Formats: sequence, structure tokens, C-alpha cells
Amino acid sequence: MAQLWGGRFTKETDQMVYDFNASILFDRRLYRQDIEGSMAHVKMLAKQGILTKQERDRILLGLTDILQDVESGRLEITSEYEDIHSFVEANLIERIGDTGKKLHTGRSRNDQVALDMRMYVRAEVQETDHLLADLLEVLQRIMEENINTFMPGFTHLQKAQPVTLAHHIGAYFEMFRRDRSRLEDIYERMNYCPLGAGALAGTTYPLDRNYTAELLNFYGPTRNSMDSVSDRDYVIEYLAALSTIMMHLSRFSEEIIIWNSNEYRFVELDDAYSTGSSIMPQKKNPDIAELVRGKTGRVYGALMGFLTTMKGIPLAYNKDMQEDKEGVFDAIDTVKSCLKLFTGMVDTMKFNEKVMEASAKNGFTNATDVADYLVNHGVPFRDAHGISGRLVLRCIAENKALDDLTLEEFRAESSVFEDDIYEAISMKTCVEKRLTLGAPGEAAMRKVIAGNRRYLDETERL
Ligand code: ARG
Repeated sequence: MAQLWGGRFTKETDQMVYDFNASILFDRRLYRQDIEGSMAHVKMLAKQGILTKQERDRILLGLTDILQDVESGRLEITSEYEDIHSFVEANLIERIGDTGKKLHTGRSRNDQVALDMRMYVRAEVQETDHLLADLLEVLQRIMEENINTFMPGFTHLQKAQPVTLAHHIGAYFEMFRRDRSRLEDIYERMNYCPLGAGALAGTTYPLDRNYTAELLNFYGPTRNSMDSVSDRDYVIEYLAALSTIMMHLSRFSEEIIIWNSNEYRFVELDDAYSTGSSIMPQKKNPDIAELVRGKTGRVYGALMGFLTTMKGIPLAYNKDMQEDKEGVFDAIDTVKSCLKLFTGMVDTMKFNEKVMEASAKNGFTNATDVADYLVNHGVPFRDAHGISGRLVLRCIAENKALDDLTLEEFRAESSVFEDDIYEAISMKTCVEKRLTLGAPGEAAMRKVIAGNRRYLDETERL
């Protein structure tokens, strides 16, 4: 047991207490942020005359060595230490002697861990943004290639009106684009540096908080030292953003699972992204999509868990806050692997255009257009709705599509029908006439796709 705080104690900590209290087994993933934060702190201490230049340089050299040794695997972060902060400090003292004992001047583990966590989450917010941008590029390609790929649009999982694959995928483009803008908001709000807040009330040393904030690429220092050490809002906001990303991925996964089923056959998953059955040789299962859908639960769980942890904590730091790590780390790992795999799966998936179009035709998705045809010829909409409905009923009884009815059969319901009805209710016309902004008609769709391209080219990755 290596502890930083033995002075006041006359007894060894009970081993079970020590283990329960320790965080090294999970906070060791913050080693880089911890070392970088310490380096900035030491540079600032020297600039303010609190450490000498020689002391600064010795400490910086020691910290650089520790970082290199951890990264190369020469130095292992073991459970011998209470947390990552003790690990780095103890190692520094071991390497450079007494000078190392000056590192923690004007600092507490409370502002230290608040800084480490903020820097770690900030980098993950950026990486999540990049992964979303990669997914959006894939969706954009599919949209560009499928402006005229007709498919049924659904409500209640019942075929409703014809749309295109570009239009359907475009809905997901919007969702993931909003996810990126949520991450940007979080980044903007969280990018302030808590270092220098001390344990809770700042310090008596003349620290330059602006300087450390600048060295660590923050917009500036945080404004209240008690809030600085006890604020984890950015973790909660990030978990909420991750939960929303998973909700979007899960809905998309659900559709892919349905589209990939034997009954639909709208898509075929690439062999590299599907799995077989140990007993049924014919199976090709959409396991990746199912796992993404399933893993959504644990990300929501991390959000709920941590919101609950935070709700009863009085100011300022309390040990409860150590619970800001495991669930969050798991959520981050989960979302990153889901995004990567999902993007690969969608990128390699084949769409069966013919099956999609046939499905749109067989599901009476043009029944509204039959009614609209009548309305355009002076029939009141309510009557037109009834006529179209009766034609659908007849088609169901005779097992055919509306397009298959003879003109005779159309006219049996209304003498208004002429030969141009077939053109008017073809998939192509049905879609093409839908030209309101955001609708699937080709001209409207091309505008959106061009806008997406501009957005992707002009929006800098975080
Ligand atoms: N391991 C602790 C955490 O993650 C570090 C801060 C400890 N501070 C303290 N006052 N015990 O929150």
C-alpha cells in the first residue's frame, strides 16, 4: 500500500478498506492527462517563482520519462498505489528524489482529478465527433447513389407512401448531424480549466490559472473553486449525448435487422459483418446490428447511474465522485466500438433495389396518389379517399397491385379515370411529385444532398 496521506494516522488501513477506496485499477487510463496536467502545473509554479528553473526542469524530465516508460510498457501501473495521482508522484520521487516532493505544491488531488477527467472526456468528445463524421460520409455516399431507388416508407410498420432510399437514409443523416452539434455544444461549455481550485477554496500561493489553462488548451480557467472540484456536468452531458447516439444507432439497427430478414430481403449484409449459426447451416445473422441495439442499454445505464450518484452530493468534493469513472469509461468504449462497427457494416451492406421497389408497388403505397388524381379532376378528397379504398379492397381480393388494374376496372369505381392514371401512380411519378423541401422528390433531394456535402466539407471536426 503506497499512500500520500499517512502522517495523521497511527494505524495501517485495513486491506479491504484500502481496496474498496482505491481507484488505480480504473483511473490508470488517465495517466497521460495526469502527467500533462502536472507538467503544466510545474511550468506555472516556476514562472511564478514558486519553484526554481532547475527544479522545474528536473521534474519535467522525470515526468517525461514516466510517460515514455508507461507508453512503452516498461513501467506497469499496478494496484500497489491508491490512484493514478499517487502512482505518478511516487514514481517521480523515486526517480528524482526530494525535488519530486515539490510537484504537489499549490494543488490538491481534487482539482487534479477534476482536470484529468475533463481532459480525458474532452478528447473523447472529439473522437466521438470524428467517428460520427466518418459515418455521415458513408450515409452521404449511399444517398448520392440512391436518389432514384424507390422503396416503401412506413408508418406503424405498415407500408404508407413511396419514398427513396436516399430519403430514408437522409433521416439518419439528420440525426447523426444533430449528435455532432450536441458534442460541439458540450465541448464549448466544458472547455475551462479547473486546475488551481485546490481542495475547494483555491490556494495561498500566487498561482497563474490563466497560464495553466492556456498551456492545456482550455479557453480559460473556471470561475468558482468549489464548483470546479465538484462539477461533473460535462460527464452527464456527454453521457446524455452518447445515449442519444446509441438510441439513433439502435433504431437504425432495428431497421437493418428487419430489412435483412427473409421476409423483407431489402438488404444483404456483407459476410464480414454477419455471423452463422452453430446448428442451422442456412443462417446468416445480423449479430452486429443486434449487439449495437442491445448495448444501448448499458450506455443508458451509465447515464442513469451517474445522474443518481451526483444528486445527493453536498459541496464540494466527496468520494462519491470517484464513481464518475467506470460507468463512463465503459460507455465511451461501447459507443466507440459500436460506431466503428456500425459504419463498416453500413458501408459494405448491399441494397436490393428491385425488391425494395417491388415492395413499394405491392403495398398500395400509391393509394394516396390515386385519390390525389381524382382530386385533381374535381372529385372532393373524402369521396376520392373512398374510391381509392374500394379499389385497394378489390386488389387485395384479387391479389394484385393498383397498377395492375385495367382501365375498365378503374372506371367501374369512377368515370373520371383516364389512361393517364398509370403514369400518375407510377412509383417514379409518386416520388417525383413530392417536391416540398425535405421530401423525397429528386429535385428536393438533390438540394439536400448538396447541402449535406457543403456541411461535411465546411464543418471542422472537433
Ligand atoms: N481517486 C479520486 C477520485 O477519483 C481522486 C481524488 C481524491 N481526493 C480526495 N479528496 N480523496 O475522485
